[in-house]
Amino acid sequence: MNMDSVELLYEKMLAKLGKIMPAVEIRAKADIAQQILQLKEKRNAVILGHNYMEPALYYSVPDFVGDSLELSRKAAETDRDIIVFCGVRFMAETAKIISPEKTVLLPSPKGGCSLAQSITADDVKKLKQQFPGVPVVTYVNTYADVKAETDICCTSGNAAAVVESLPGDTVIFLPDEYLAKNVARETGKHIIFPTRSKKENNSTELHNVMIGWEGRCEVHEQFTVEQINSVRQQFPHVCILAHPECPPQVVEAADFAGSTSAMIKFVKNSKQKQYLLLTECSMADNIMAENPEKEMLRLCSVTCPHMKEITLEQTLDSLSLNQYVIDVPEHIRIKAKKAVDRMLEIG
Ligand code: 13P
Ligand code: SF4
Repeated sequence: MNMDSVELLYEKMLAKLGKIMPAVEIRAKADIAQQILQLKEKRNAVILGHNYMEPALYYSVPDFVGDSLELSRKAAETDRDIIVFCGVRFMAETAKIISPEKTVLLPSPKGGCSLAQSITADDVKKLKQQFPGVPVVTYVNTYADVKAETDICCTSGNAAAVVESLPGDTVIFLPDEYLAKNVARETGKHIIFPTRSKKENNSTELHNVMIGWEGRCEVHEQFTVEQINSVRQQFPHVCILAHPECPPQVVEAADFAGSTSAMIKFVKNSKQKQYLLLTECSMADNIMAENPEKEMLRLCSVTCPHMKEITLEQTLDSLSLNQYVIDVPEHIRIKAKKAVDRMLEIG
């Protein structure tokens, strides 16, 4: 390993992270990061890092960082041979769907997602039989076989725009119950759940309706209005940002809701001093490193165990051992790609 380049990387990371991490930890991480950067060049790889990655990873090895939508676009544009996806499985699968000729690596086989787990391709087929002709929108937080049964995908960054892009006023929107409710509110639609009674749904009429599913993000479902009220009482000037996977009453009680990148941009451009993010808590560290003049309050008992699987150590193993290779059967990939491409065509 070239000691000058490790030293340079350490200095760069120290400048960014020195206010939020001890220097000895940064030095250890810089050693690993430097090995990753060398392997990345040798293997002609690109590294994509989701906004939830730990600060030492986020600020060292990725060529691009961003939310699900931004990283899907980067995966579509790259000319490298290998895509290392520092995120969870559904994100890496989306990269493979878009770029089948590339080797796509996910640093941990355990990087799942409770939303992706909440629905199967058979569930979608049954819904299509129950509501023939109604277009199906699925959140990108789903596996490839579910996307393959879908007309168009969406992310938290474009969900309302995707719903509004469709002809007709009724859509099947899967699988996140809370994202669906938040989008229904934004687009002025009524929401029903096929698993619930007519009384619980308030109606079963298919007019200006979103037909939802009862999937939930195990992280964002934990945030409550009581937490918001308590934090506001203790810190009266705090600005609260929520991810749209949070329950609708939480989104309503927050000052802003948006994708992970939209939250980052909001804090960067806002003049307020103190913030609370209702999302995976590593992101507050990443924002704090970039905006040292701003204060981030955190509810860090709520973290995403799947995202936490992805570390610098796992990323080094991923590139050196070529693991874990993401494959999507071709007949599924071709169908899923149509839904992802259609989403990417929307601005
Ligand atoms: P974003 O698309 O907003 O980055 O969200 C991805 C995710 O999994 C949030 O939990
Ligand atoms: Fe899935 Fe929630 Fe984790 Fe995002 S935070 S990857 S939606 S479990």
